[in-house]
Amino acid sequence: MLNRRIKILSCPSPEYTKALQLRYRILRVPLGLEFTTDELEKDKQDVHLGLFENDKILACITLTRSENKRMKMRQVAVEEAEQGKGLGRKLSAAGEKYALENGFEIMFCNARKTAVPFYESMGYQIVSDEFVEVNIAHYTMEKKLVVDNTNKN
Ligand SMILES: CC(C)(COP(=O)(O)OP(=O)(O)OC[C@H]1O[C@@H](n2cnc3c(N)ncnc32)[C@H](O)[C@@H]1OP(=O)(O)O)[C@@H](O)C(=O)NCCC(=O)NCCS
Repeated sequence: MLNRRIKILSCPSPEYTKALQLRYRILRVPLGLEFTTDELEKDKQDVHLGLFENDKILACITLTRSENKRMKMRQVAVEEAEQGKGLGRKLSAAGEKYALENGFEIMFCNARKTAVPFYESMGYQIVSDEFVEVNIAHYTMEKKLVVDNTNKN
């Protein structure tokens, strides 16, 4: 990929702000929701990854450390024109690698029902009943993390 790089973003930082704007446009605007002050405060404890093409952010994810060697992947957002091109998969794989390298064994997420096939394609399994979050249907999904020697990116 030409000039495309995955970066870990400090919070706060100008790059984190770009990720936040992408999250807002892709994940919140369609639902008519804003980020709360509490959500933004919690972001400071988390790990933020962004996939950039030069200075432009194309995709982002946030990782939240949880108990029992579990990491939560959340706020997965890909620029609309870039969806379906493998960027979500690539960034999620980078998030899983980061978690594994930092001693986590399970990645889980609260997946929007519409995104369940995306997570299934990466080996995640549904482990909850359907529930409502941000006013839409979700499932908790999880995956046991294993060292992947096939993906060197
Ligand atoms: C969901 C999202 C993160 C997926 O990222 P993406 O870059 O578009 O997905 P990728 O191109 O990496 O797709 C990876 C795999 O998932 C599949 N997939 C992705 N979205 C899918 C969907 N909505 N339905 C069915 N399959 C899907 C792809 O076909 C691909 O499978 P393959 O590798 O077997 O061909 C992205 O489309 C997005 O930001 N959507 C809007 C926000 C959102 O729903 N975020 C998730 C919140 S839980």
